[in-house]
Amino acid sequence: MESYGRRRFLSRVWRWTAGVVAAAGAWTTWDVLRPGRSASAGPVRTVSPEQVTQTGVLEISEMSGYLTRVDDEIVALWWRCPHLGCKVPWCESSSQFECPCHGSVFNRVGEYRRGPSPRGMDHYSTTTENGVIVVDTAAVSDGDPPGEESIDEPPTGPECLGSEAGS
Ligand code: FES
Repeated sequence: MESYGRRRFLSRVWRWTAGVVAAAGAWTTWDVLRPGRSASAGPVRTVSPEQVTQTGVLEISEMSGYLTRVDDEIVALWWRCPHLGCKVPWCESSSQFECPCHGSVFNRVGEYRRGPSPRGMDHYSTTTENGVIVVDTAAVSDGDPPGEESIDEPPTGPECLGSEAGS
């Protein structure tokens, strides 16, 4: 009888410990993958428009996103994936944004290419003040729904995603 009580006690301790370990693992995973937003949403002074080249992408951590351009228009993208919120990195070899979590892919201006994301990457509004691009991280608008891409820039090389992502 005593041994039965002891086994039940040890079984409970084991389950409780397993639960705590699982919760800690889940929290750590979420904490690593979730994209941080700037500590205080609002205007962020970035770079001069000349520093944003026609086909280049600049990562600006203070605005949690990227700057690029189409002709004279500056495009400011939030790096948060519209699917489940992972940070979407720029892939230099393919020249597209590729989400490592579930394989959503976006072109240089954040338009949807494939994957589970419901839309393209979200945009910040921008202004230019005294020769500097100011990005308002409190003013976010949804990316466009999947459809035609406005730029004709196919992938330039191998993707950064592993072969299992996006499948
Ligand atoms: S969070 Fe990016 S594809 Fe799921």
